[in-house]
Amino acid sequence: MNRQKYQIWNADAFEWLPKRRSESIHAVVTDPPFGLVEYMPDQLRRLAEGKGGIWRLPHNYDGHQRSPMPRFTVLGPSDRAKLDHFHQRLAPLLHNVLVPGGHVIIASQNLLSHIVVGAFCGAGFELRGQIVRVVKTLRGGDRPKGAHERFPWVSVSPRSSWELWLIFRRPCEGRVRDNLEKWGTGALRRPADGTPFRDLIQSSPARGEERRIAPHPSLKPQAFMRQIVRAALPLGKGVILDPFMGSGATIAAAHHLGLSSIGLELHEEYFRLARRAIPALSRLNLDGSEPPSEDP
Ligand SMILES: C[S@@+](CC[C@H](N)C(=O)[O-])C[C@H]1O[C@@H](n2cnc3c(N)ncnc32)[C@H](O)[C@@H]1O
Repeated sequence: MNRQKYQIWNADAFEWLPKRRSESIHAVVTDPPFGLVEYMPDQLRRLAEGKGGIWRLPHNYDGHQRSPMPRFTVLGPSDRAKLDHFHQRLAPLLHNVLVPGGHVIIASQNLLSHIVVGAFCGAGFELRGQIVRVVKTLRGGDRPKGAHERFPWVSVSPRSSWELWLIFRRPCEGRVRDNLEKWGTGALRRPADGTPFRDLIQSSPARGEERRIAPHPSLKPQAFMRQIVRAALPLGKGVILDPFMGSGATIAAAHHLGLSSIGLELHEEYFRLARRAIPALSRLNLDGSEPPSEDP
């Protein structure tokens, strides 16, 4: 297989995107900073100091240290307004750099996804579906704070067992078949010839080895990322962008699959982590059948 190269930039997506040529990206696969505040410097400091803030710091459990999770239920109206503003700016920028028929596959959250859908559809994208990543999390399911003994049979909200990813598409030029011919986009790639891409994907959290390679608080597993990155380019050609790459899970998946990609990360520490982690993540052999990739 022809191994494509990747480019990564220590850059603010909102500064980089307006400078990028229009219609030069074929798909976006990304996991944005969801509550926004969780990647602000004061919240990252609290996380590093073990003081929590928006980050829920789970106790040791069965001898395993669980990863911190952001608590989106603590977001107030002004945080939601900031999130709306963030996606109102992001969606038109992505629309401009994508070719017609280009997909955006974006991680979301069931309490906040309506904000993202509103912004993307307002910018001219079509909502094309959702992917449900079935994964056990520590989010929700708690008894009322300070009243665990008074109401032991109560959960304030459901314990979340799935993660939502939204699928948007920049409208095609003409019919899907014409768009596929002209731009190489407009549809999703099948995992195998006889099998359509499905919107329900069972996926464990990132494995211990992946976490050791890429200790980012929002690391997504290669087994899942490789499936959605592959689906994003129907003909297996073009450039995939992740404007919020964190430790580079999307870029590593693309590189493993021999696809060209570009990753952006604002924080220098995570950018340096991505630079180290991408070659190792892309080489991970998850089922023993995939050939290892070459480094760029
Ligand atoms: C949810 S994390 C992505 C983690 C990624 N899925 C992984 O597996 O490592 C979002 C990332 O976006 C970065 N970020 C936040 N604002 C940004 C911006 N304006 N431009 C580029 N990156 C940004 C954060 O520093 C964070 O690393």
